[in-house]
Amino acid sequence: MQPVTLIRPHAARRAARFFVEKFPGRSIYAVKANPSPELIQLLWDSGITHFDVASIAEVRLVSRLLPEATLCFMHPVKAEEAIAEAYEHHGVRVFSLDSMDELEKIMRATGNATDLTLCVRLRVSSEHSKLSLASKFGVAPDEAKALLFAARQAADALGICFHVGSQAMTPDAYAQAMHRVRQAIVDAAVTVDVIDVGGGFPSSYPGMEPPPLELYFQTIHRAFEDLPISYSAELWAEPGRALCAEYSSLVVRVEKRRGDELYINDGAYGALFDAAHIGWRFPVTLLREPESEAKDIAFSFYGPTCDDLDHMAGPFLLPAVTRAGDYVEIGMLGAYGCAMRTGFNGFGSVETVVVTDEPMVTLYDAAQRPAANNVVKL
Ligand SMILES: Cc1ncc(COP(=O)(O)O)c(C=O)c1O
Repeated sequence: MQPVTLIRPHAARRAARFFVEKFPGRSIYAVKANPSPELIQLLWDSGITHFDVASIAEVRLVSRLLPEATLCFMHPVKAEEAIAEAYEHHGVRVFSLDSMDELEKIMRATGNATDLTLCVRLRVSSEHSKLSLASKFGVAPDEAKALLFAARQAADALGICFHVGSQAMTPDAYAQAMHRVRQAIVDAAVTVDVIDVGGGFPSSYPGMEPPPLELYFQTIHRAFEDLPISYSAELWAEPGRALCAEYSSLVVRVEKRRGDELYINDGAYGALFDAAHIGWRFPVTLLREPESEAKDIAFSFYGPTCDDLDHMAGPFLLPAVTRAGDYVEIGMLGAYGCAMRTGFNGFGSVETVVVTDEPMVTLYDAAQRPAANNVVKL
């Protein structure tokens, strides 16, 4: 028996429509969150026309599936061959960078192209986010001026981008980053054509219930409007998690119980990387007919490989009677979970079934949101 992935196309469609209709700018799907071709197609069908790609494999994937889509190569450190192929063969014109070296690389690889949109990535804080992206990428404040100036000379359109870290738990994360953007624009005194607020839009997990997404959109819109270039610049975002977290869940089988530890048939090397390595908690339900009425207790999980690391501390709340042979649904695995699955130890193959019921948690159910927050006022 293999784990089964439950796919909920309607949930991703609803998330995409939400971003397309309510984000006060362009929503660019970050393919790394879930590169499933079916998902990419359905996002396109729901109005997402731009895709943030991080590698040449993602460039090839999206350009094969959706030749009409616009691709934005937003990894700040790219292979020179990847830039050349993306530019020459796949029509990519948008690239991000955070160093002079990368700027030179892009110019070399594209033969000093004059039709590029170059987005300079600023280093911003990840303090409000559950997963930091603050150390690896982003130009430091004291180097931003020179890089913006050089990129302005080379670019047809100049952008500024950042990433506040994944699963940003408050809209303040964006307000603070936009403050950095304002300082960078004023310091460099350059015209900027694009402000790209990156990803970081949250989903809902146990112990990590964020405010409504509309508040994030309002905060970003207000901060954008306050920038000296807002009258002529475009506003972009690169949501990954928020567009696909609700898209899939996983049904696993309990193979053994040892006290409050459940040995299940997926784990750290499967779709539960985040549960194992960063202690992320996911919603769980025991699938029994009739439903168990036993009270919930806290379990931890072991995955199927022979490795002690294949352990997920949780806690995962399940009825006290849960035992070997039971099936458990683990929710909200559409973002990153499926994308990081490996075949280690011979595990990792999954069946996929399309279902139409609601995901365990949703951020997109209008009935659950305060009415006053439902609209972004433009
Ligand atoms: C450049 C870039 N954009 C967008 C994303 C998507 O972020 P999230 O899934 O937090 O929305 C990432 C994630 O790592 C990223 O590196």
